[in-house]
Amino acid sequence: DRSIKIAPSILSADFAGFGAEIRAIEAQGADWVHVDVMDGHFVPNLTFGPPLCAAIRPHIRTVMDVHLMIAPVDPYIDAFAQAGADILTAHLEAGPHIHRTLQAIRGAGCKAGLALNPGTGIDAVEHLLDMVDLICVMTVNPGFGGQKFIHSQIDKVRSLRAMIGDRPIHIEIDGGITPETAPLMAAAGADVLVAGSAVFKGGSVDKPEVYGENIRAI
Ligand code: DX5
Ligand code: ZN
Repeated sequence: DRSIKIAPSILSADFAGFGAEIRAIEAQGADWVHVDVMDGHFVPNLTFGPPLCAAIRPHIRTVMDVHLMIAPVDPYIDAFAQAGADILTAHLEAGPHIHRTLQAIRGAGCKAGLALNPGTGIDAVEHLLDMVDLICVMTVNPGFGGQKFIHSQIDKVRSLRAMIGDRPIHIEIDGGITPETAPLMAAAGADVLVAGSAVFKGGSVDKPEVYGENIRAI
């Protein structure tokens, strides 16, 4: 299904009320829920791990899309799978054995995602196309919400879509998505748009209609 999907990142939600925040964004039209896991080592920030994923799982009716910004990845795959992740995305840059990591993700029963930092080319992806269900092109350097979109990634997405051809692989883009940058990425071939600050800004669980307006504006 190549229709455009919006995946709000709960990194920009109110951390004191994830259950209510998730129910609000789904009621307002979110297609997937994007969960940013950071380890203070692969990226210079800390967020949350498998227990948080397990706690929010019952509140998610759509897709739990877990973005692992951690290294190493392999020791934690089973824990995230048991916590209910539908998609587990690992970074190409997180270790020397991405092929093994993708095998392990599918082996744990999840869809396998492969994320690329802005400085990483797409050459290595060619040899992984039969191993992935999703490729996440980072349009900011991972670690923080609210950063500025990196325009050089538009050509990368276009090349990647050509490389993928008619294989059933999602292209997700993550970082700096706004009503201005989203159409550029959709035109280049992305079909899953992650957005944190652009979805949550100005809204709250008491003003959920703002989330709906923000989602429709993207
Ligand atoms: C960055 C995260 C993103 C980010 C998106 O490391 O992977 O999901 O928080 O936030 P915005 O949309 O605010 O750039
Ligand atoms: Zn992310």
